[in-house]
Amino acid sequence: MTITGTENWVTVGKADYLEPGELMYVEVEDEPVCLINLDGEIFALNDTCTHEDASLSDGTIVGDEIECPMHGGAFYIRTGEPAAMPVVVRTEKYKVRKHGDDLQVSLT
Ligand code: FES
Repeated sequence: MTITGTENWVTVGKADYLEPGELMYVEVEDEPVCLINLDGEIFALNDTCTHEDASLSDGTIVGDEIECPMHGGAFYIRTGEPAAMPVVVRTEKYKVRKHGDDLQVSLT
């Protein structure tokens, strides 16, 4: 038996569903997740802003950042690190892969 890591991959949709510049809300094991297509690469961040209770999937992609719809704070899409005040705490970034036709996310 080969140990391949601790990821628990969950299918969230079809791999080609999101076009570049689009984002989408999904739930993975009860966690709110924001999927983002940044220039053809898919990223997954926790959907809840770390400043207050706003949904990043209602936000706007600006360059390589996602801007929160509530107060205009922002996160770097590639890392989940804060990019603009009033956000000061990073958000969780999750693993994403294409598996055949499916798009999968792992929270671990
Ligand atoms: S809730 Fe996101 S910046 Fe305030």
